[in-house]
Amino acid sequence: MKNRRDFIKKFSALTGLAATIPISSSALSKTSSTFNSLLLEDIPAEGADNEDFWAWVQQSYTASPNFINLNNGGVSPQPIIVQEAFKRYMDICNEAPSYYMWREFNRDVKAVKEKLAKLAGVTADTIAINRNTTEALDTIINGLPLKKGDEIVLSVFDYPNMKNVWKMREKRDGILLKWVTFPAPCNDEDFLVEQYVKAMTPKTKLVHITHLINWTGQVLPARKIADKAKEKGIEVLVDGAHSFAHIDFKISDLNCDYFGTSLHKWLCAPFGTGLMYVHPSKIKKLWPYFPSEEPDGNKMNKMENLGTHNIPAKMAIGQAINFHLLIGAQRKQRRLFELKQYWIDKIKDDKRFVFYTPQDAKYSGAIATVGIIGQSGPEISKKLQKLAQIHTTNVQVENVDGVRVTPHIYTRFQDLDRLVEGLLKIASE
Ligand SMILES: Cc1ncc(COP(=O)(O)O)c(C=O)c1O
Repeated sequence: MKNRRDFIKKFSALTGLAATIPISSSALSKTSSTFNSLLLEDIPAEGADNEDFWAWVQQSYTASPNFINLNNGGVSPQPIIVQEAFKRYMDICNEAPSYYMWREFNRDVKAVKEKLAKLAGVTADTIAINRNTTEALDTIINGLPLKKGDEIVLSVFDYPNMKNVWKMREKRDGILLKWVTFPAPCNDEDFLVEQYVKAMTPKTKLVHITHLINWTGQVLPARKIADKAKEKGIEVLVDGAHSFAHIDFKISDLNCDYFGTSLHKWLCAPFGTGLMYVHPSKIKKLWPYFPSEEPDGNKMNKMENLGTHNIPAKMAIGQAINFHLLIGAQRKQRRLFELKQYWIDKIKDDKRFVFYTPQDAKYSGAIATVGIIGQSGPEISKKLQKLAQIHTTNVQVENVDGVRVTPHIYTRFQDLDRLVEGLLKIASE
């Protein structure tokens, strides 16, 4: 109980709130920059590794009590403070949209960007806040000056949206795509790096790396692959849709030139919020998708010329960052791995199941994909929904055929017990 008491005492001291749980959003609405900086610096990243703390986290979300959502990998729910901040900003904007969105909040969004850049370990002038990973990476892939014969190294396990833009450039511009593959799961870091290195040639212009593969939950050694590419003068693009705010790292750790993520996944920010990063030395040459007056300029705001966009959603990213920092990046990563491993440990020796996900904390987080011999992924997913009211998604890609199970920090162990019961029942059919 000590950790819980400390946590509540500290939180109450910071907010001046009675130690009510969940936190009142109206209190948080009174956030000032002083409050924000206190919250960021004073809540310890470590400690409170107990179930009281996680019960508080669970109560900070509004998960349906009627079924179990184990497809948080698709898109994450927002904690109450984020939901309410979004609604509040929406209400304010509706009082006078052009005044609040274009004058007042335009200034405040800059502060959100500073905060997001700090979280990502880069400077604010190297990022754009946009709608999602697809927008970030498709813009980059489309905007790179490439010519016929240039080669790109990518993997069969990359995300379809990004593969499709690369294939479009192959058709449109005559670039060549070099596809890398590897077994699922794979714990051999040297082998993984080697597959990417083997595909690099003197014509290679860029290596595309999916940091955490959505189909299997496999974490790739992105930094090691990037270092090898850089030694050869090859650029690196990282798809961080699933790694950002899930595993503890900074964009600056990756030695990459381009990075994109969706903030509505593991950061639990409003739906339709994302981040695009471009190394300062590459901004000038990258063509934007929606050009401003200076499409060949060297300022990142040339990537933010979408027209009228969702300012309330962008504003509420600030609350999502506060919540994430309150949990602590390391503690969150540990918990997510613990939740995944909890259910896998209960059935991992049962020969009826096939696991496509590494079971090592270095190569995985919350996401895991499991198959049942003789049954397809879609069948298992349907049965889990019908038998146990458990929502998952199915995966059929390369040799992977199973259901993808993605808990989040609000998931309870008893929900995972029900998953295990469901899987055992389906396997014995
Ligand atoms: C690896 C990966 N990249 C990109 C995306 C696209 O994300 P969004 O739909 O938020 O653009 C996803 C979505 O799940 C993904 O798993």
